Amino acid sequence: MLVDEVPSRITRASELLEMGQWLDVENTQIVCAKSHGEIMAPTRRRRYPRGCRRLLEDGRMSDRDLVMRWVRAWAHVRDLRVQQVDGWPLVHVRGPSRDTEIVCVDPGRTAFERLAQHTAHDPREMLTVFGRDLAEYVAPPLPPGLRVDRDDEVFMTTMLTPSPTQVPDGFAASWDVDGSRATYSLDDGASIAAEGIVGVLGTDAVFDGIETSPGHRRRGLGRHVMSALTTWSVDQGATTGLLAASIDGAGLYAALGWKQELEMWSLMGVGD
Ligand SMILES: CC(C)(COP(=O)(O)OP(=O)(O)OC[C@H]1O[C@@H](n2cnc3c(N)ncnc32)[C@H](O)[C@@H]1OP(=O)(O)O)[C@@H](O)C(=O)NCCC(=O)NCCS
Repeated sequence: MLVDEVPSRITRASELLEMGQWLDVENTQIVCAKSHGEIMAPTRRRRYPRGCRRLLEDGRMSDRDLVMRWVRAWAHVRDLRVQQVDGWPLVHVRGPSRDTEIVCVDPGRTAFERLAQHTAHDPREMLTVFGRDLAEYVAPPLPPGLRVDRDDEVFMTTMLTPSPTQVPDGFAASWDVDGSRATYSLDDGASIAAEGIVGVLGTDAVFDGIETSPGHRRRGLGRHVMSALTTWSVDQGATTGLLAASIDGAGLYAALGWKQELEMWSLMGVGD
């Protein structure tokens, strides 16, 4: 569920499950009994049982937790190995543009500079910083051995609602489902006009590779692909959508009710 919509007080288990498994414990702490379907409360020593996530005092899930959910789901559905660097995930992306990507969330300038040293001079490694305001990282001169790869993406989330949709006239739809991951495409008879991928881990769905070919844009195909993938992911048990959006994508997702949570800034190492 959208973190903003965490109710201020829920007392009954049925309500908790209905509302998306959030619980206000004695009005002081909020825990999320995620995916276990049972109520969990912090122990007297204020430790949280496995599977629970502490929310911030104002009731929001921390930005770090939200992004780590995205990393976990992304790595799971693509079967990517994840290591740790200074406490942040280093994902073995094995993609055409990069071998590895470090993901960090507003780590502070000193920690950022340590991570930057890891990526510096490695043209196959990306370092992506997420945050509400990235001026602290973006404004000073770039650490040596790095270049800015992308500064136009944003991190977005939504509470998923299935919306049945008809295949647009003149297109053939096809699905390629591989475990918890599905690719949906629309073909115009000659080539793929639009497609997208969604992967589900527990109640989280990550959307990826949403694309409409240039000649077919602004005719509702992107909206249709997102509806089809959303309905499939909800059928798999997903309730929250998470994604990294390009500028074009952010326009589409905002029109579908997604909310921008964080800015993103991606650096690549520069070879010597
Ligand atoms: C983003 C993309 C998939 C949108 O596909 P599309 O088929 O053109 O989208 P739709 O026609 O279904 O758009 C539905 C609504 O979303 C919004 N929207 C879509 N693209 C938009 C854009 N580039 N800018 C602002 N709003 C946009 C509009 O409100 C639009 O309704 P309207 O055309 O009546 O104004 C397409 O522009 C694309 O492939 N871009 C390049 C790849 C990319 O960036 N993909 C996203 C990766 S996160």
